[in-house]
Amino acid sequence: MKYFIANWKMNPVTEKEAIAIAQDIDEENVMIAPPFVFLKTLARRVKKASLAAQDVFWENPKGAYTGEISAGMIKSLGVSSVIIGHSERRRYGGDTDERVNRKTRAALSQNLSVIVCVGEPEVVRKKGMKSAERYVKAQLGKDLVGISKKNLNRVTIAYEPVWAIGTGMSAKPEEASSMMLRIKRYMKERYGVGIIKTIYGGSVTEKTIKGFMKEKTIEGFLVGGASLNPRSFKNLIQAEKRP
Ligand code: PGA
Repeated sequence: MKYFIANWKMNPVTEKEAIAIAQDIDEENVMIAPPFVFLKTLARRVKKASLAAQDVFWENPKGAYTGEISAGMIKSLGVSSVIIGHSERRRYGGDTDERVNRKTRAALSQNLSVIVCVGEPEVVRKKGMKSAERYVKAQLGKDLVGISKKNLNRVTIAYEPVWAIGTGMSAKPEEASSMMLRIKRYMKERYGVGIIKTIYGGSVTEKTIKGFMKEKTIEGFLVGGASLNPRSFKNLIQAEKRP
């Protein structure tokens, strides 16, 4: 069964709305990533889904870092996972590969599972698949450097071509799948990790999901916009069961 991460980004505005959406999409194969401020409430309200934070600070577990949230704090709420290196954090939050690496280490040190996001921008993709592969491998080479093989077992790689996020343009399923294979191969060669979970993100919709579902290398999806609309999101989840 494929699994789905509902990345709400900076939505919704109120806790009431957050509870309503979460209760509507509370399924076993769903991981909800709400803004930090809703995590505590949702940890009590959600029954079947798991929860993830959308980011974490690299120092841990506490200290003089105004405005930051540590892996220890996230863990203390009973939240199991954290998304790190989403392209919006890289773009607006100043996350470099070095920071992604430090954040990943901090999260793993608290036994959290980590979803590390990688993906090429449009200028790179326009040069072809080989360039995109080089870009993604360079990210993985820096983002995961120095992390033990054992800890890498708690890492999922989300391949999210930057040009496909929030744009309505998605990669072709076979292209996404081919990148997943390249990522898996690289993780084996570079880090000795035989099995790494790979998921796809970027404008997944009810119309496009079927094609992705067929690809074995795509084990799940990171869904942004569509995860805020319970009806659309449930249609995505159920697409697997439909003929
Ligand atoms: P989107 O976002 O589904 O709105 O394109 C995907 C993401 O957050 O990675």
